[in-house]
Amino acid sequence: MKYFTFANGDKMPLFGLGTWKSNDRDAYKAVREAIRIGYRHFDCAARYENEKEVGEAFSDAIAAGEVKRKELWITSKLWNNAHLPEHVQPNLEATLRDLQIEYIDLYLMHWPVALKPEVIFPAKGDEFLSLDEIPLIDTWKALEKCHKMGLARHIGVSNFNIPKIEKLIAQGGMTPECNQVESHPFLQQPKLFAYCQENHIAYTAYSPLGSQDRPARLKKETDPLILEHPTVMDIAKETNSTPGQVLIAWAVQRGSAVIPKSSNPGRLRQNFAAASMDLSADQMERIAALEKGFRYVDGSIWALEGSPYTVESLWNE
Ligand code: A2P
Repeated sequence: MKYFTFANGDKMPLFGLGTWKSNDRDAYKAVREAIRIGYRHFDCAARYENEKEVGEAFSDAIAAGEVKRKELWITSKLWNNAHLPEHVQPNLEATLRDLQIEYIDLYLMHWPVALKPEVIFPAKGDEFLSLDEIPLIDTWKALEKCHKMGLARHIGVSNFNIPKIEKLIAQGGMTPECNQVESHPFLQQPKLFAYCQENHIAYTAYSPLGSQDRPARLKKETDPLILEHPTVMDIAKETNSTPGQVLIAWAVQRGSAVIPKSSNPGRLRQNFAAASMDLSADQMERIAALEKGFRYVDGSIWALEGSPYTVESLWNE
């Protein structure tokens, strides 16, 4: 297994299990099965509505002697309606209770977008808080406090671009230790990827397989299917693997962390095996040539009419 090593020497396995879209018992079963297969990195979030089931799976696996807490790398995320500084620690504590753990390995700000505390998903433009009302640095400082207290061993961000990270640092914030963003061959984010590497920020790729099971509100009929791209399918044939495995192997070989979701035992197993597959330089290059700046999760859900956020402000400002 390859790892990202943090400044203090802690190691995060580059390959992990995504739990977004794993529902209830599926999440429990997937995590139990994944631990048996050898997965040690689990990507969670309060918003995935399954942290209780995931926590039960950790607790049962530990009780059954299958794994020790210290062997697990557990990431979770602060939801957008908890950006007010006084809400950060209580939200992290609720996640720790649900996951049945005493500390989180990595805690991320889920989006650079704030919602009013009573709103989970916005239906109208007036359900947001603007970044003038609640600047990202205020939320970030509250995460830093959780870090200093030892509740979060590492802290980072998700869905941030370079200017937003730079602004946190310029405002006296600690450099985020991770940026988790959508990434796959159609969205390689070369500048952001290089920036993260230069600044020793772990770059974690979500939706690495194109997230076909994402909710309808995040889907358009014209979205390209990365798992069916001829180049990916050809390389799968050449390597006697599957398109999903090719995408995972490409990400790990590139030096990105990657968190494909599956709740299917066979695919859990093949995805795990892909983390130690080798692609040739030619195959890596042919995959790199698929870049087209395409987002499956384009952030338009935060750009409702009257919202202080636009898709442009999200990714480019
Ligand atoms: P399932 O859970 O039934 O395995 P992403 O990680 O990009 O969000 O994609 C998750 C989607 O990809 C899920 O629908 C998941 O289905 C499916 N999936 C997971 N692993 C593979 C694989 N190796 N090949 C094809 N589809 C996969």
